[in-house]
Amino acid sequence: MSNPRPAPAPTPLNVLVGVSGGIAAYKAAELVRLLKKAGHHVRCAATRASTSFVTPLTLEVLSGHRVYQEEYLVGDGSGDELHMTAARWADVICVAPATAHTLARLALALADDFLSTTALAFDGPLVLAPAMHTVMWQQEGVAAHVEALRRRGAIVVGPATGALASGDVGVGRMAEPREILDAIHRLSQPAPLAGQRVLIAAGPTREAIDPVRFLSNRSTGKMGFALARAAAARGAATTLVAGPVALETPPGVERVDVTTAEEMRRAVEVAAPEADLIVMAAAVGDYRPIEIRSSKIKKGDAALDSIALERTEDILAGLRAIAPTALIVGFAAETDDVIDNARSKLESKGADFIVANDVSRSDVGFASEENEVTILGRGSEAHFERQSKLHLADRMLAHFERALANRERQPA
Ligand SMILES: Cc1cc2nc3c(=O)[nH]c(=O)nc-3n(C[C@H](O)[C@H](O)[C@H](O)COP(=O)(O)O)c2cc1C
Repeated sequence: MSNPRPAPAPTPLNVLVGVSGGIAAYKAAELVRLLKKAGHHVRCAATRASTSFVTPLTLEVLSGHRVYQEEYLVGDGSGDELHMTAARWADVICVAPATAHTLARLALALADDFLSTTALAFDGPLVLAPAMHTVMWQQEGVAAHVEALRRRGAIVVGPATGALASGDVGVGRMAEPREILDAIHRLSQPAPLAGQRVLIAAGPTREAIDPVRFLSNRSTGKMGFALARAAAARGAATTLVAGPVALETPPGVERVDVTTAEEMRRAVEVAAPEADLIVMAAAVGDYRPIEIRSSKIKKGDAALDSIALERTEDILAGLRAIAPTALIVGFAAETDDVIDNARSKLESKGADFIVANDVSRSDVGFASEENEVTILGRGSEAHFERQSKLHLADRMLAHFERALANRERQPA
C-alpha cells in the first residue's frame, strides 16, 4: 500500500473572496468560515446582485472585516483607491460562486464593479468556482469565457454534478467549500512535480484506408489533455503526444501532434527514456489496413468484401524496455469485465498502474466531460468517483506522485 505524505501546513494567505449573484452565494459564507478556521486572512467583495442572496453583514461577521461593495466609487475617506488597495493586499482572489455574468466580466477584462476592477488590477492566482444551471454552463459563450480564463492560468474548481436550485439534476452546482479550500491550499504548497518529466499520450489514432477514408475511434483526448494540464500545473516538464483532436494545448505543455499509431509510437519512444512518469491515455488503434489504396475506393452496388488489417505495434508493452525506471501507467478502455481485463493488462504489459475506464457508459468516458475510473496497481486498487475530468486528472496525478515518492525512498 502507498504511504501518503501528510499535506504540509498551509502558509496563511490573504484571500479576497468575491461573491457574485447566484443561489450558491449562501455557500460563500461557509467558505469564508473554513478559510478563517484554516488560519487565512479573509476579506470579501460582494457584487450588487449577490447582496440579494447573502447579506454583506453575514460575510462581514464571518470575515471580521467590512465587505467591499460599490462604495469603491466614492472611496472610504482615506484617499486610497480601494480596488488597488485590495488588489495589493490579496495573495489570491477566489470568486465563489462565479456567475456567468461575472465570468464574462473577468474573461473580457471588463471593470464595471469593485470585484472585476480589483481582479483586473491583480496579477496573482485567481480561483473560480462557477455555479449556474446546466444549460447556462453548457452555452458556447460561457464555455469560451471559462476556457479563456483557464488559458490565462485561472484555476477553475467544479462545477459539480447534482441537484440544482431549479430542481433539475445536472452539472452546474458550485463545488463544495472544502474542495475550493483544497484548491487554495495547493497554491501555497511547493509544486509537487517540480523537477520531474511527465510524458502523456492522448487522443485517438487514425489509419488511412484510402485518400478520404480512415479507421479511428471515439476518443476525444479530453482525459489525456486534462492530465497534461494538471501535470504542468503541478510543476512537471510535460510533453503531450496528441492524436488528431480539436483541443487547445494546455499552458506550459510541449505538444507533439501525430496521426497514426506508428507516428505515436515513434514520438512516445523519443520522449520516454527521459520521463519519470509516462501515462498512455491515448486510444491507440490496434489494427491498420495492410494496404492504403492510392485512389478512393469506388462505390459499387455490391458489398465491399473485406479490408485486410494488420496489428499495430503495442506501444505500452514496449515501454518498459526503453524506460526501465519510469512509472508507467496504461489505460484500459473496456466495455465488459472492466476490472478483470484491466488487471490482466497490468500483468501482461509490465505497467505499474492501469486506469480502468468503462467506455460502454454514455455519462462518463469517451467524449464526456466527466469520468469515473479505478486505478489498479500491483497489490492496490483505488476507485475515483464520477467527477470532472480536470478534477479527476489532478487527483490521479496525486496518486501517481505518491508512488513516485515511495519509489525514491526505497533503497536501490
Ligand atoms: C433567483 C436567481 C438565481 C440566479 N442564479 C444564478 C446562478 O446560479 N448562476 C448565474 O450565473 N446566474 C444566476 N442568476 C443571474 C444573476 O443573478 C445575474 O446574471 C446577475 O446579473 C449576476 O450579477 P453578478 O455577476 O454581478 O453578481 C440568478 C438570478 C436570479 C434572479
